Amino acid sequence: MLSRGSREHGDLVRFRLGHRKFVLFAGPEAHDCYFRAPEDQLNAKAVYQFTVPIFGRGVAYDVPPELMAEQLGFLFPALREAAMQRFARIMFQETKQFADGLGEEGEIDLPHAMNELTVKIASHCLLGQEVRDQVDSGFAEAYHELQNGINTLGFFLPRLPTPAHRRRDRARRRVAELFRLIMTGRRDSGARPDDFMQMLMDARYKDGRALGDDEITGILLTVLFAGQHTSAVLSTWTGLELVRARAYLERAREEVRGIYGEAGTMSFASLKRQLTLEHAVRECERLHPPLILLIRKVLRPVRYSGHVVPAGTLAVVSPAVSHRLPSVFADPDRFAPDRFAPPASEDKQHHYALIGFGGGKHRCMGKSFAYQQLKAIWTVLLDRFDWRLDTAFPEPNYGSWVTGPKLPCRLHYRRRSDACVR
Ligand code: HEM
Repeated sequence: MLSRGSREHGDLVRFRLGHRKFVLFAGPEAHDCYFRAPEDQLNAKAVYQFTVPIFGRGVAYDVPPELMAEQLGFLFPALREAAMQRFARIMFQETKQFADGLGEEGEIDLPHAMNELTVKIASHCLLGQEVRDQVDSGFAEAYHELQNGINTLGFFLPRLPTPAHRRRDRARRRVAELFRLIMTGRRDSGARPDDFMQMLMDARYKDGRALGDDEITGILLTVLFAGQHTSAVLSTWTGLELVRARAYLERAREEVRGIYGEAGTMSFASLKRQLTLEHAVRECERLHPPLILLIRKVLRPVRYSGHVVPAGTLAVVSPAVSHRLPSVFADPDRFAPDRFAPPASEDKQHHYALIGFGGGKHRCMGKSFAYQQLKAIWTVLLDRFDWRLDTAFPEPNYGSWVTGPKLPCRLHYRRRSDACVR
């Protein structure tokens, strides 16, 4: 419906769902207006209240935007190059362990497998070794219960005491207790590992105040929720598209052979050189953005292109719609990763042509992490296995907050004998 609206009406499309009024901003110029608007005009906090029972009180969308920015800002140093070097090895080790467990030949449920793998990578890289050690003994289960707390009803009535919401609240208490025990253990032992949790334990607000354990738990959950499922879904689409585009997959594999040779070590630098694979990931970001709708509440009227979007409206940007505009991307429904290589470099025509990671003040802080992770995963999986999809290419499942493929979505694999990435 939104795609048709933008084809027929251009940059701004007004529509209603029930009693709610919406306006879609489509195309790079409209994105520019949307992402530049100040928080007191286009407001994220008013829309993302359903996250408060999950992330917790006193963090993220429960606090004023300046405070949320300060809280997330503590994490930037933990995403700089030195950390990314370390993450490259963790991403490799976790994926290798996953691949080693697959045996010679079989079938995997790809979305499920990518979900498990990215929970391990995210908890190991971002939350720390102690949480990673507890993934199989309680953490993953509690985390999935929390994820199940995100549902349509929760979007409108996040505090309604439904069974799913009660399970969500119980799971949050379990996660909070686990994190509290880890933080207490670190303080008692004096251990100071190099991770997000420690970064937050050492951080001070501008007024000199240290963060409380509950705030630290909330910020860690915010990042985990923002980064894990989205990565799992984009990794799934990347695998599916590569397996369908055999010739491109072979090019990506040749690139792996060229860079890693007989037995090359995966590193931050080696992953950076894998542009063929990177363009495939970018093409999947374009064709299958995990977040298909970004939403803000209009608090003050927005003027754009001779129109006024009134206060009270819900303003949306849809990466899924905008990424398929033929005025921006040539032959937009085709999987063509080379569109991102020179001379075409289609994403470079406008800084908001490609918006799978958002833009402006709320743009994703984990984009480089996500790209590196997806490249690490598919480097190992292409190196170790041949892949085949025996069913039709799956349709997107728009019924979920993060848009993955409809199930079942199984891939057949057979181990190769010439693996070279170490
Ligand atoms: C493929 C993976 C990912 C995708 C597609 C994705 C996409 C996005 C998008 C579209 C937004 C903007 C939301 C909006 O404007 O309403 C966003 C925000 C955010 N992302 Fe990501 N993301 C991914 C991975 C990550 C990772 C790995 C992390 C953490 C390391 C992360 C942390 C965040 C945070 C904290 C925000 C909120 C920023 C704010 O509101 O100020 N994301 N992401």
